[in-house]
Amino acid sequence: MRASLIALPVVVLSLTMACGGSEPAPKADAPAKPAIEEAPAKEEPKAEEPKPDLAAMSPEEQLAHLMALGETVYKTGGTGGVACITCHQANGQGLPPSFPPLAGQKEWMGSCEQHAGYVVHGLKGEIEVGGTKYNGVMPAQGNLSDEEIAAVITYERQSWGNDYGLCLPEAVAAARKAPPAAH
Ligand code: HEC
Repeated sequence: MRASLIALPVVVLSLTMACGGSEPAPKADAPAKPAIEEAPAKEEPKAEEPKPDLAAMSPEEQLAHLMALGETVYKTGGTGGVACITCHQANGQGLPPSFPPLAGQKEWMGSCEQHAGYVVHGLKGEIEVGGTKYNGVMPAQGNLSDEEIAAVITYERQSWGNDYGLCLPEAVAAARKAPPAAH
């Protein structure tokens, strides 16, 4: 009788510790705190929005940031570009035989710099994509920022079944200095 009266609180206590001690404890605390720590809690998201520092991000954060910005540039043209969606379409399939698809296997997608070069310098002359010949003019959009171009090509590389990984602004800067890449 006595033994079980003592044992019960011990079991309850150790269960409480096992649950509370696992790891949600500090996280569960955080949302409850803003009243006290209002200033630092607000500073963090603000610092991330206007001036995102790609170099300080993990690869996952870089990808998330570039995908979000890239989708905007693709759909709106960003700061002074021509919305890619107009010609290459929402599904990345283009409009054959006028505008080539961006979805699908492309050897040159292995190189961020080559890919960025098509956006920085534009592209014209006959090319063949997926067995269809195109001979159009892709407008040069070097007026977009390095980060916008890195973002929009990351968006292309990771959308519509493409899976080529992200591109960073450094590759765009290199493409600006290089002559237009051959297709
Ligand atoms: C006015 C229509 C138009 C717009 C807007 C446009 N493109 Fe293009 N794009 C083309 C055409 C046309 C070609 C093919 C050029 C050729 O025939 O040599 C092309 C080719 C490309 C290629 C090479 C495709 C391949 O398979 O080799 C890429 C990459 C590309 N565009 C990306 C973009 C991105 C990114 C944007 C937005 C920043 C964009 N384009 C906006 C018309 C456009």
